[in-house]
Amino acid sequence: MSKKINDIYSDLTELIKKSTKSKKKNLFLHNPYFDNKEHYYLKRCIKSTFVASAGEFIRKFENSLKKITKSRDVITVINGTVALKVCLEVLGIKKNDEVLVPSLTFVGTVNAIKHAGGNPHFIDTDSDTLGIDIKKLDSYLKKITIKKNGVIFNKKTGKKIFAMIPVHVFGKIGNMNELIKISKRYNFKVIEDAAEALGSFYKGVHAGNFGHLGILSFNGNKVITTGSGGAILCNSKKLSIKIRHLVSTAKVNHPWDFLHDEIGWNYKMNNLSSAVGQAQIEKFKKIKKYKTKLKDRYKNNSKKFKNLIFSDEPKNCESNNWLNVIFIKRINLNDRNKILNLLNKNGINCRPVWKLMHKLKMYKNSPKSNLSNAIKLEKSVICLPSSAEYGKN
Ligand SMILES: Cc1ncc(COP(=O)(O)O)c(C=O)c1O
Repeated sequence: MSKKINDIYSDLTELIKKSTKSKKKNLFLHNPYFDNKEHYYLKRCIKSTFVASAGEFIRKFENSLKKITKSRDVITVINGTVALKVCLEVLGIKKNDEVLVPSLTFVGTVNAIKHAGGNPHFIDTDSDTLGIDIKKLDSYLKKITIKKNGVIFNKKTGKKIFAMIPVHVFGKIGNMNELIKISKRYNFKVIEDAAEALGSFYKGVHAGNFGHLGILSFNGNKVITTGSGGAILCNSKKLSIKIRHLVSTAKVNHPWDFLHDEIGWNYKMNNLSSAVGQAQIEKFKKIKKYKTKLKDRYKNNSKKFKNLIFSDEPKNCESNNWLNVIFIKRINLNDRNKILNLLNKNGINCRPVWKLMHKLKMYKNSPKSNLSNAIKLEKSVICLPSSAEYGKN
């Protein structure tokens, strides 16, 4: 093993041990933060026998999410991936429409585009915000699009550019006002993938409220969890009525009869998962406080290491600090993997950022812009153990 790799490994180990203040043998990337409330609400839910699509916790959890996000409506569903698919479909995506999406994202974002019949069109990432590189996007769109009757088309593929999905990576939010301006100029829809951004704000506005629709995920590794689960943030009354209807098998309200007036989905979150979600969200303030404390420690402790740069909150963004990120200076993928191997072998659960989407075999022929920032980030990003419990220490 080269000296450089050993040095970075020992710097990271020192940084993580000092920041998490944990004496435990294994440090996890992101554990859920549970207490007795989950047990209590789950027991109450089971006792009520309402474990599926009806019951007290469904609306309770949705109302709690509304309070935090200030969205007009929040519709809980079975996961974040279907939430994205539903958003694309209710906004009217047509077969082979293109959707602008960062190559640096979780595969679920891109799969949802395909499941909805669209095609991903990959764009680059900003190295500070980890969201879309806005300047690059603007000049790229100038070059590759043509407007016909107010609709924007990709000159090369001839396909309509229907929407853009900005992703709030690790809870960080870039300049959403600027992105929305671009979307209006080019006349495409915006669906925010805020899967990782519950509790993140840009200029005081919660993630998911800038575009036409937004989504959250409550997968086991997120700031709060329902096991698996997601939600759609909606600020249009008309759309929220439509979404609620479609994700609940398009069932017409009736005390006993089965009437369905469209081909709907069975995507609504059940009462059991909502019970866990409600227990989680009641301590969200505490979780966020611990996570902020942990982020501050990582930020301060990282200053002394010359090969490590802490990825701070972007300008005007209050992040939920879901995952703390370190950039390693001048590193290649091979050496990054060696460092990650060493860390994980020694009980420190760190991970890289996702393999870029345009490299996956399913998406390697999709249209794409120059992705030089994402390619650099793929090499240099290491996600650090970020469980809320470490901020409590
Ligand atoms: C950025 C991003 N988008 C989409 C998803 C999909 O959410 P889910 O796993 O709930 O389907 C996730 C997380 O898992 C994610 O991190």
